[in-house]
Amino acid sequence: MITIVDCGSQLTQNIKRRIQEQEVRAEIVPHRASLDDILSGSPQGIIQSGGQASVYDDGPPLPDARIYAAGVPVLGICFGMQAMAHLLGGRVQAAKNREYGKTRIHLKDSPLFTGIESKEITVWMSHGDIIEQVPPGFEVIAVSENGHPAAMQKGNLYAVQFHPEVDHTEYGRQMLQNFLAACNARQDWRQGDMAENIIAEVQRQAGENTVIGGVSGGVDSTTMSVLMHRAIGERYHALFIDNGLLRMEEREEVAGYLSALGINLHVTDASPRFLERLAGVDDPDLKRKIIGNEFIAVFEEEAARIGDIGYLCQGTLYPDVIESIPVHGASSRIKRHHNVGGLPERMRLQLIEPFRYLFKDEVRKIAEQLGMPEEIVWRHPFPGPGLAVRIKGEVTAEKLALVRQADRIFISEMRQQGFYRQVSQAFAALSADQTVGVMGDGHTYQHACVLRAVVTRDFMTADSFYFPQEFEQRVTSRIVNEVKGINRVYWDKTQKPPGTIELE
Ligand code: XMP
Repeated sequence: MITIVDCGSQLTQNIKRRIQEQEVRAEIVPHRASLDDILSGSPQGIIQSGGQASVYDDGPPLPDARIYAAGVPVLGICFGMQAMAHLLGGRVQAAKNREYGKTRIHLKDSPLFTGIESKEITVWMSHGDIIEQVPPGFEVIAVSENGHPAAMQKGNLYAVQFHPEVDHTEYGRQMLQNFLAACNARQDWRQGDMAENIIAEVQRQAGENTVIGGVSGGVDSTTMSVLMHRAIGERYHALFIDNGLLRMEEREEVAGYLSALGINLHVTDASPRFLERLAGVDDPDLKRKIIGNEFIAVFEEEAARIGDIGYLCQGTLYPDVIESIPVHGASSRIKRHHNVGGLPERMRLQLIEPFRYLFKDEVRKIAEQLGMPEEIVWRHPFPGPGLAVRIKGEVTAEKLALVRQADRIFISEMRQQGFYRQVSQAFAALSADQTVGVMGDGHTYQHACVLRAVVTRDFMTADSFYFPQEFEQRVTSRIVNEVKGINRVYWDKTQKPPGTIELE
């Protein structure tokens, strides 16, 4: 097992994940964990994460210095390297040239770099302090293009100023693998344990309490519901609120699937309430706010009907967590995510978040292990405010009907032609334009719809997906011919940035 000491990095879970990819067990402990606590787990190696702090801050998250003499290999990453240098008698100081983002470094010989063919590689840095002088007995094993030590080593103590745990660092996986080899780490951890571990953890947290959770039909909340049901059976209540902004037959599809599994499902059709509140509103932020508030109101009413509830369960993922709250106390607050918050504060309920340490593809793996159908496992994300943000201007029943039909044609064609899995997210939206067309003998004056398909790993940046021309022609003709009220189709090919994925 490898113990990761979290010094407040947003990337601590990335480290854990990279270790587990090598089938090695990994646990995260806060930087305040005592040396005894850390060593009581008999780790074969210790990794100190990065962090936002400087060793010269007031009360920096420094480990107990005796950790370096415990006979266990240590890898310090970023702040972890500075902590090691500082505690072992090196010199750390504020850099004149801060190193952020991609940086070139030059590698020397070290077991940490075994198997890396190139001496010049690109790594991802994010630090303000630099190591001015490495501690006695240490060797500089990599130098950055600014001439600063980028990695150092003494025996089984290793440290890197960059982040080997992110994709942007070339050979990052290889370096972590080399560290695991230096630790002689046992490869006995299996991804397959994930669902079982979560079920056990949820059972422990929930005790004998009743738990409620919202389910939207997306892969996260649906998988969560299936797991919760396995964990606590009837005591888990899933609330599915139809806000009237879902896609065609979405409620029937998801509710049908969940109730067939025997899940305690409460379906509420709240469409009229939402659409009434949205009447006359065309500002996208206001739409989002109205939908969010109405959702909380309906959710509270439904929860009150169920009665004595102990916990609220949310399908929050790790990327949502790191963007909103500190992990294990130390990660600094960056921003509040639109999917986190609101409900728990209002309802004064404690949270169960079974996926708070997982990435989306790990949730998909669990969903597959649980034998969930492909339509759910690989479902594209769909925003909480639903079709309201895919209709420019006021949301009306007529516009909803149009966008649903266009979306159905686009998505079903994608599925049929085998494009659905290649694309990360695709949808139809209704533009604000009314355009002129000819149909038969007469002129038409109807809506224009926008089709968008993107490829992305993290949804922070995205590329447009390029379909074959025949596919685009076929979808365009089908929509214009079959959807009465749409006479024109725009294909949105904008990358993110500058364009966001949704239109508003
Ligand atoms: P953007 O449009 O910001 O979208 O590039 C990135 C991802 O977030 C989804 N999205 C939302 N999800 N509430 C949500 O729950 C929202 O208000 C919202 N806006 C965008 C979007 O579908 C994409 O997956």
